[in-house]
Amino acid sequence: MNTPRVELITSSDGSHSLYHRELNETYHSKHGALQESKYVYIQQGIHTLLPKNTIDVIEVGFGTGLNALLTYKWALEHDVLVRYTTIEPFPVSLATVQQLNYSALTEVQESIFTALHESAFNTNIELHSNFILFKYSKLLEDLSLPKESFDICFFDAFAPSKQPDMWSTSNFSMLYTALRKEGILVTYCAQGNFKRTLQQIGYRVEAIKGPPFKKEMTKACKS
Ligand SMILES: C[S@@+](CC[C@H](N)C(=O)[O-])C[C@H]1O[C@@H](n2cnc3c(N)ncnc32)[C@H](O)[C@@H]1O
Repeated sequence: MNTPRVELITSSDGSHSLYHRELNETYHSKHGALQESKYVYIQQGIHTLLPKNTIDVIEVGFGTGLNALLTYKWALEHDVLVRYTTIEPFPVSLATVQQLNYSALTEVQESIFTALHESAFNTNIELHSNFILFKYSKLLEDLSLPKESFDICFFDAFAPSKQPDMWSTSNFSMLYTALRKEGILVTYCAQGNFKRTLQQIGYRVEAIKGPPFKKEMTKACKS
């Protein structure tokens, strides 16, 4: 696994993010990393699945671990069991992780944030009775995900203009198969081509209001 060459940046809401040098791309919106993750993946994502009491998440792109940390906090607050499966073939270094201000901003202990990153890959790790983590170290396209096993997909890859292969029909077909019926996929991306790809596969696609400074985001449901 190659460690990506990244630089720490501060987004407009004061939360950190990372800038990926080779892709010339940031891990989150520059207008507010924390704001974007909270809105897209928590508020418009997992929170809409209540009153379920057990939720299986599949995240594409663990990255800084911000979505995982916010989901951990949400799971405890709502007393929901979250089994959080995430994919990250290029983990950031612990030295970089330790500079991120997420534990202070979310008020979740630093030890939990560090544990999200330090936990072994390819095995279940119970970080709390409400939160079980499983991290895949392979590329999404090389995985064979279990069928009908997830309630929600957090699709948080780099933008289609930077990593077009990640937004392929084959990847979204595989995720469709991995989702349970009425399972949802949420992402910050609202591109027309991407939404058409989802529709061709069979997802019901909804364009919903985006986070601050972004007109729309996408929510898609397995029929
Ligand atoms: C936009 S960033 C993720 C942001 C992340 N969710 C966070 O909260 O920091 C995209 C992530 O996808 C990962 N990635 C790149 N290629 C991938 C692939 N083929 N399969 C799965 N993940 C990939 C990158 O290493 C990066 O961490």
